[in-house]
Amino acid sequence: MVYEVPGRVREGAATPVSSMDRYREHYAKAANDPNQFWLDVTKSRIHWRKEPTEGLRGSFSTIQDGPLCWFADGELNITESCLDQHLESRGDKVAILWEGNEPGENRRITYRELHGMVCQAANALRELGLKKGERAIIYMGMVPEAAVAMLACARLGAIHSVVFGGFSADALADRIRDCGAELVITQDFAYRGKKQIPLKATVDDAVQAAPSVKKVLCVKRTGGEVAWDGNRDVWWHEAVDAASTEHAAEIVDAEHPLFILYTSGSTGRPKGVVHTSGGYITYTAYTHATVFDLREDDVYGCVADIGWITGHSYIVYGPLANGATSLMFEALPTYPDAGRYWDMVERLKISIFYTAPTAIRALAAQGDEFVTKYDRSSLRVLGTVGEPINPEAWEWYHRVVGDGGCNIVDTFWQTETGGIVISPIAPATPTKPGSATFPMPGIFPVLKTAEGQTVRGPGDGLLCMEHPWPGQARTVWGDHPRFVATYFDMMPGHYFTGDGCRRDEDGYHWITGRVDDVINVSGHRMGTAEFESALVSAEEVAEAAVVGFPHEIKGQGVYAYVVAQPGQTIDVGSLNGTVRSQIGAVAKVDKFQVVPGLPKTRSGKVMRRILRKIAEGRGNELGDVSTLADPTVVDTIRDGFQGTA
Ligand code: PRX
Repeated sequence: MVYEVPGRVREGAATPVSSMDRYREHYAKAANDPNQFWLDVTKSRIHWRKEPTEGLRGSFSTIQDGPLCWFADGELNITESCLDQHLESRGDKVAILWEGNEPGENRRITYRELHGMVCQAANALRELGLKKGERAIIYMGMVPEAAVAMLACARLGAIHSVVFGGFSADALADRIRDCGAELVITQDFAYRGKKQIPLKATVDDAVQAAPSVKKVLCVKRTGGEVAWDGNRDVWWHEAVDAASTEHAAEIVDAEHPLFILYTSGSTGRPKGVVHTSGGYITYTAYTHATVFDLREDDVYGCVADIGWITGHSYIVYGPLANGATSLMFEALPTYPDAGRYWDMVERLKISIFYTAPTAIRALAAQGDEFVTKYDRSSLRVLGTVGEPINPEAWEWYHRVVGDGGCNIVDTFWQTETGGIVISPIAPATPTKPGSATFPMPGIFPVLKTAEGQTVRGPGDGLLCMEHPWPGQARTVWGDHPRFVATYFDMMPGHYFTGDGCRRDEDGYHWITGRVDDVINVSGHRMGTAEFESALVSAEEVAEAAVVGFPHEIKGQGVYAYVVAQPGQTIDVGSLNGTVRSQIGAVAKVDKFQVVPGLPKTRSGKVMRRILRKIAEGRGNELGDVSTLADPTVVDTIRDGFQGTA
């Protein structure tokens, strides 16, 4: 199979084009022989107990028969790549550089120390009954113990599922039940700027509705008072600190599940996306080193949360497999003020910085002085992830934060892709503000029309991928048919991302956003179906339809149309409370509009296209609405439009 090498590069670009030659070489190599390419990559970066001889087994066309396999005959424990393999050469190098809630509150954990901590935690978890293949939930803030907990599960061959601390007890209970976890690892409270988030209390509530949980292991972070069940609850410092600092890693097959991460889709409840061991660690290590041009003395700072895939792949697994110094940041970008990131860059000499466009837009709005008063000369590469970056935000990041001298890498990827799939490679790729540029070696994007025709050359289309890569998700926990239906039914033989994309005349990729019913709020992926099911659970709400609208800072905001039950009135002020308790603090409706009915086709399908247009303030571009069951409802909705300020 020979794929055309993508893209012509812009003449006269600032970055050295010579390195694009190397990119082209790698790309061609991966296209000509993907198996050999990835076998070479994994053998050079990953510590295998039994080296694989096999690359890919399976294909997108046969995915309905079962998950894909990469490196199927290999055996490893990925923590040996993240920890043990560095002990000799990097034992005293800082692995986790933790910055706590208060500026300057630091912990510097070396590879040797981290190895000891992970072994202790693995021993303690085993004592608590956690075994290979069993699931453990991690519901924590950004403390080093959260990364230690992830690695300790992996050390045992157990499967972790990290749930972001902004989810509610209901959402947490759903996830515990779905994966049948018997152990939850949490902390008393999490600091978050001036606030303290009661994580243990939320776990207590969730466990009421999730009786599979037998043990709760709790880190003491703030020392605040928590309820305690002596039969179930165990303090981390009592169980872990006393355990041995040695632990022989459980060796597993390459395709042994490493973690489950729940993510929102178009329909139904969040899906438990499953990532496995050998392919995931290979892909995250490779992309982390390649995209960010990682060097031995870098201080790498990704300010995501481990509750999302970015934290998994590019705070914990990729960086540690590469022996990097990886930042863990507990606070908020605006605590104590909007200069916090750059204050940290100056103090910790951060050289690679990775954040979300929403943070960049919010900080740019606060004024340049918060940035310029700090010394940022250590910075070399600046990354973004999570949503399209608008050219103004890109320019500000480049000009103000990077003083015009850093490479900007706009990295496109997803929970399901495991790692970065389309992105500039620093410093090789000549960039265009707002474009994620070119695919990584081994990634073969294809743009399709809705009818399934391939768009060749410049054009717009649905972004699909043509050939498997090692880091991609293998299945949905407990529901492989749902995995196939969600990602492979739409374009047979291809993985469908759910995003739209434009390819320009130079072969650059411009992600245009989700084409399904997923909204991306501040880089957080939310399903409209989850909002709708929370809203209709309120007694007075008969029907609800939720869509996204463009939001200056958050990228997208949430717009909810709600219909009252006959004879009842809706007080929209209280509805966000319902959303908060069902989904969590992470979810909030920005605009409510009470409407007499929703626009529906004669067969009863809600015309979301119309609602989306109205919410975007484009109510005069609706086109033909005559096929609706009741076209007059559209005028009423348009007249009641709440604005998008
Ligand atoms: O719509 C795309 C957007 O975020 C979605 C994936 O969300 P999630 O699984 O939560 O993972 C986010 C972190 C990897 C994608 O379908 N997205 C992510 N990165 C970009 C992006 N959209 C445009 N440009 C990006 N760089």
